[in-house]
Amino acid sequence: MMKILPSYAVVDSLKQHADQASAATIQSYQAETGRTERMATTAAGLTLDFSRHLISEQGLNELIKLAEQAGVEAKRTAMFAGEKINKSEGRAVLHTALRHMGDRLVMVDGEDVMPAVRDTLSRISSLCDTVHAGQWTGWSGKPVKHIVNIGIGGSYLGIKTALDGLRPYQRKDLQAHYVVNVDPADLAKTLAVIDPETTLFIICSKSFTTMETRVNAEAAKAWMLEQGMPEADSARHFIAVSNNIAKATAFGIAEENILPLWDWVGGRYSLWSAIGVMIPLMTSFAIFKRLLIGAFEMDEHFQNAPLEDNMPVIMGLLGIWYSNFFEAQSHAVLSYASDLDAFPGHLQQMDMESNGKRVTADGQPVDWQTGPVIWGGVGTNGQHAYHQLLHQGTRLIPVDIVAALESHNPVAEHQDWLFAHALAQAQALAYGCQEDQIRAEMAEKGASQAEIDMLAPQKVIPGNKPVSLLIMDKLEPETLGALIALYEHKVFVQGAIWELNSYDQFGVELGKVLGDQIFEQLTADSAVNEADAGLNQWLQRYRQKHHR
Ligand code: F6P
Repeated sequence: MMKILPSYAVVDSLKQHADQASAATIQSYQAETGRTERMATTAAGLTLDFSRHLISEQGLNELIKLAEQAGVEAKRTAMFAGEKINKSEGRAVLHTALRHMGDRLVMVDGEDVMPAVRDTLSRISSLCDTVHAGQWTGWSGKPVKHIVNIGIGGSYLGIKTALDGLRPYQRKDLQAHYVVNVDPADLAKTLAVIDPETTLFIICSKSFTTMETRVNAEAAKAWMLEQGMPEADSARHFIAVSNNIAKATAFGIAEENILPLWDWVGGRYSLWSAIGVMIPLMTSFAIFKRLLIGAFEMDEHFQNAPLEDNMPVIMGLLGIWYSNFFEAQSHAVLSYASDLDAFPGHLQQMDMESNGKRVTADGQPVDWQTGPVIWGGVGTNGQHAYHQLLHQGTRLIPVDIVAALESHNPVAEHQDWLFAHALAQAQALAYGCQEDQIRAEMAEKGASQAEIDMLAPQKVIPGNKPVSLLIMDKLEPETLGALIALYEHKVFVQGAIWELNSYDQFGVELGKVLGDQIFEQLTADSAVNEADAGLNQWLQRYRQKHHR
């Protein structure tokens, strides 16, 4: 049998609270006077209402002790101080330095990284000025109109999330495109709509060794040459962002066209770095700065707010409450803001690549559950699809509902309807609709007893599904930055309590190695005889199809 959590003193007491909560209802907790005021916190333009949770206030106090006993505060200090908390790779974890707006030094290996961060920001700013002024021209002298980001994982998801979140701020004179995966259809759909003479490709790869990005970058360059780009003009069409300058120059990117990032920035935390250069290019440098400021405000809150008011700490603890004490397998993030449509994808990488781990930071097997499956979508779309399972399925799925009070697009009553439904879902999840009420309503409408007996149980919505409301005034650059940073810190808090290194990702490596080997087998000139029959049948079938 698995332990609930590492051996923190408070775990037994938490277990008792969880047993009590299992016999209680969110509705009964919510009836306590003052709970809704006490169980809310505001920071960096976001309000977290965490009152609709299956936990008593005493239980929550015990959860705060869990954070204390797990040393979350000391671990947080170590991260912000640039200690090498990514032990397996011997790296600091300093995405927070990328958005640091104060005058603090941020030291790594005895060196302040802030001058390099500021220098890169000013290079990004100059690049934006040149492109926006129409002075960055292609081989035929025409200004840039299309920007294509070639990158995957952290070199795509955060950028897409931020840029979609900033839709109202996007420039009309530039079009953004993404080439992400190695399916040739992905590249083809972009090549079909861009104009080579006015296209700027950003080869975005921290390592510059990622197969998908390398293959797509090579194909894009070949296509540009075919379209008439003189080789000598490739610097006008290709720039790169990478920590691997040697590989980027070897690919043929002019050194002055390579924006750096550093090994202390994890891929899934890199949208704040030059990896996110597409964001200011497609909006403005000022908007990008506002995004960084919002994230910085959340960093300040995370560092300074007491644990009981600390939004990332509370969200992290509540996630652990359900994962470890109630066996919840997944966590849904439902955005009642269409411009956040890409957010769940970014969260999946941020959370699942960080905390989907089976050993501790010291390499000991964990004997407790770690990161949940993260999923989600935009409201109200989900209400006409998977919300059925949220309301009446057999699994407990905690939900975050993210919503804004005001829209950038004041069309008719749309925003009123949208916000009404965000609140309605929170109410329905938490309180449901019980059988006696359904029976009474059916009887009032004249249903027969047989009908009532058959239908009433099917109509029951049990409720008691935990839901956090995360509300902002409006989805603006600052609130978007704060929102993303909030989840980054939530992931940190959970990793700290589960004793994980949230900043490596060895789990993705085997697939890469096998992918290389199987690629060799699929494309070999001579016959292939693979010992594994299950694999061999598909190798032969593919090779036959391609006449190999
Ligand atoms: O394979 C996983 C991963 O390394 C992610 O962690 C990373 O965000 C992604 O691939 C892309 O990596 P890169 O930016 O080095 O191309």
